[in-house]
Amino acid sequence: MEFRHLGRSGMLVSEISYGNWITHGSQVEEDAATACVRAALDSGITTFDTADVYAGTRAEEVLGRALKGERRAGLEIFTKVYWPTGPGRNDRGLSRKHIMESIDGSLRRLQTDYVDLYQAHRYDYATPLEETMSAFADVVHAGKAHYIGVSEWKASEIRAAHALAKELRIPLVSNQPQYSMLWRVIEAEVVPTSEELGVGQIVWSPMAQGVLTGKYLPGQPPPAGSRATDEKSGAGFIARWLAEDVLTRVQQLKPLADQAGLTMGQLAIAWVLQNQNVSSAIIGASRPEQVKDNVKASGVKLDADLMKAIDEIVEPVTERDPAKTESPAQRP
Ligand SMILES: NC(=O)c1ccc[n+]([C@@H]2O[C@H](COP(=O)([O-])OP(=O)(O)OC[C@H]3O[C@@H](n4cnc5c(N)ncnc54)[C@H](OP(=O)(O)O)[C@@H]3O)[C@@H](O)[C@H]2O)c1
Repeated sequence: MEFRHLGRSGMLVSEISYGNWITHGSQVEEDAATACVRAALDSGITTFDTADVYAGTRAEEVLGRALKGERRAGLEIFTKVYWPTGPGRNDRGLSRKHIMESIDGSLRRLQTDYVDLYQAHRYDYATPLEETMSAFADVVHAGKAHYIGVSEWKASEIRAAHALAKELRIPLVSNQPQYSMLWRVIEAEVVPTSEELGVGQIVWSPMAQGVLTGKYLPGQPPPAGSRATDEKSGAGFIARWLAEDVLTRVQQLKPLADQAGLTMGQLAIAWVLQNQNVSSAIIGASRPEQVKDNVKASGVKLDADLMKAIDEIVEPVTERDPAKTESPAQRP
């Protein structure tokens, strides 16, 4: 496993990290979740990403139990706040009230005194940015989080938050956007601004939720046990990637992966890691074998001809519009 700095910070993170959205506390049973975390640790992954909202707060509990007994200083644990964690009108968003309450809930569920990175899971247009950032500063100064990050924020929002963070003397070091061969909306604005400010990307769904592994075949039902068959939540989220034209293009990547001696999943993860503004690619997994297979993408260099050949295949189905980086206009 290779390691990268999280943005311009001094903290190193594994360039492939493990995230538990959809899986822990929901799609997979606890023994499978624990086995995936074990496989991640055994493969050299030290960085783990979760959120208060995942599986209605159960995902943090599962991760907390799975990591129990590990040396805390050897791990980087990330969580997030914004999406609803309860029925109340204040159980959501980035108000001082919710941030202060949610960090304590997350720490309790994760069974830790601090998280390494606390992330705003979206921009909250119903809270002044000054209020959010001063609450984050208090979380940092209380020793409950070491670094602050955001997720799916626009370039202008990152810039404004970064200026406030500087005034408040807290480190805003990362953004967590969706990024893959099929979803390149950060490249035009978010990445250049982040490079200038020393903010790193921790990218999610680098395999487009499993679609870039090539296992979903055009015109055929999804394989048994895959996310697309998980009616609880997975099927809804992956639906946009199951269009015929996308699946047909993805199959055309197979000879390129073979030529490079990689699985298609490894090719997809290695592809996002070619972007030097990416600090880590967060992979999900429903089975430990997937983790063991996927981590082999660490350290892989893809040459310019291969990158060009990939572009030519996926370009017609790739989204690049920077306006697609967005947060809900109203709090959920
Ligand atoms: N900030 C945000 O708003 C946000 C949003 C989404 C995700 N995230 C973060 O990003 C993490 C990763 O997201 P993701 O799970 O969508 O990422 P992903 O790595 O693109 O997809 C992971 C899924 O693909 C399938 N898969 C993985 N390896 C495979 C292999 N070798 N062969 C076949 N199938 C394989 C598995 O699903 P099946 O086996 O079930 O098919 C696995 O759960 C999340 O856990 C979370 O931490 C953040």
